[in-house]
Amino acid sequence: MPNSADLPRDLGDPRLYREDSWRPHFARLRREDPVHYHPESPYGPYWSVTRYADIMKVELDHGTYSSASQLGGIQIADQPQGEELPNFIRMDPPRHTAQRKAVAPIVAPSNLANMEGLIRERTAVVLGGLPRGETFDWVDRVSSELTAMMLATLFDFPQADRRKLTHWSDVAIANIEAEDAVVKSQAERMAELRQMAGIMGELWKERAAAPPKFDLISMMAHAEATRAMPLNEFIGNFALLIVGGNDTTRNSMTGGLMALAEHPDQLARVRADRSLVPNLVSEIIRWQTPVIHMRRTATRDAELAGKAIAKGAKVVMWYVSGNRDEAAMAEPERFDVERPKVRQHLAFGAGIHRCVGDRLAEMQLRILWEEILARDLRIEIAGPPVRLYSNFIRGIRSLPVVIRA
Ligand code: HEM
Repeated sequence: MPNSADLPRDLGDPRLYREDSWRPHFARLRREDPVHYHPESPYGPYWSVTRYADIMKVELDHGTYSSASQLGGIQIADQPQGEELPNFIRMDPPRHTAQRKAVAPIVAPSNLANMEGLIRERTAVVLGGLPRGETFDWVDRVSSELTAMMLATLFDFPQADRRKLTHWSDVAIANIEAEDAVVKSQAERMAELRQMAGIMGELWKERAAAPPKFDLISMMAHAEATRAMPLNEFIGNFALLIVGGNDTTRNSMTGGLMALAEHPDQLARVRADRSLVPNLVSEIIRWQTPVIHMRRTATRDAELAGKAIAKGAKVVMWYVSGNRDEAAMAEPERFDVERPKVRQHLAFGAGIHRCVGDRLAEMQLRILWEEILARDLRIEIAGPPVRLYSNFIRGIRSLPVVIRA
């Protein structure tokens, strides 16, 4: 077992992710103590689960490893007491099952097929409008723009106000201690989220009074499991859908560009064989791993990889580590568009909470890369990225790029 003095006191330190310096710490834990106990941290004691197979065990045993809001929720930091925002990612069955079922049809294969043309059209317009031979921010002009448009469509939210969705997503996940945080206190965060609830509440009233339509607000307003949520759960579920549909895909759009700039041989392979694009997308999502961790709380005494996990213990599944586990995949530090079983990464989680929007995210990324390749855009990175100060979302706030004319 590693001497804990040599390890960072806390793998939840957001600086590890802003500086992108987390890899060696997790590699060492996977090798030497894959289920590791941290007796103290700013978030209290917790277990770090760092290997793919052990993460799977936790994911698939939701009876032992709970997501419940009242036990602290799904992040290493407990929710602020009295300001808990329950939502279906922070619930166990049976409520989780019923609420997830209320919104899942929006990403059913038939609806995805209906949306493909619209997504392609918008992607073409966004790419067509980019400057040539001039530096611009890829995150703002492409990743945020495309994901905001998508989310506005899913909610049937006014397109003209779509950047409000991006803003609320940033507010919901902001680490208030970051120098560049969009909100500087929990009170400010809650005020912004209440404002969001006010605007969404107006749309909700209209949709509840009208016959059911095929958008997320109408679906929730008409479903038994979601039609009468208390305010904190209303805010919680909207924040979940906004962050889920926005932040993760946005960061995969940026992370993918960075990965391919670092691996021009892989880009050349996909240019030569476009049928590799779906593989490319899965490898990008594994490589980026936009959600750093999910946390569970043990509901009973359990055993994991020979360790005794006590009832009430906080258990953190580090997806960034599971997706770099040498015991689960060959050469995980290689970006490989021809990786076998490339979809079997952990970036979407697993089990009953596995990302509901996985196929939509993959489709958005597939179309983006198909359209970039179709136009033969030569995109160069023109400066360092600014990464997010967060232990939860592996985000990129800005990335200067230039398209060679
Ligand atoms: C590359 C993009 C995405 C990544 C990496 C991602 C990642 C994740 C992860 C790790 C989870 C938790 C899984 C678990 O606990 O086992 C999750 C859940 C969820 N995601 Fe995503 N996500 C992405 C895109 C999306 C999109 C586009 C949407 C919405 C349209 C979405 C909505 C959700 C929701 C609602 C949940 C909660 C599911 C539940 O608790 O049953 N996500 N996602």
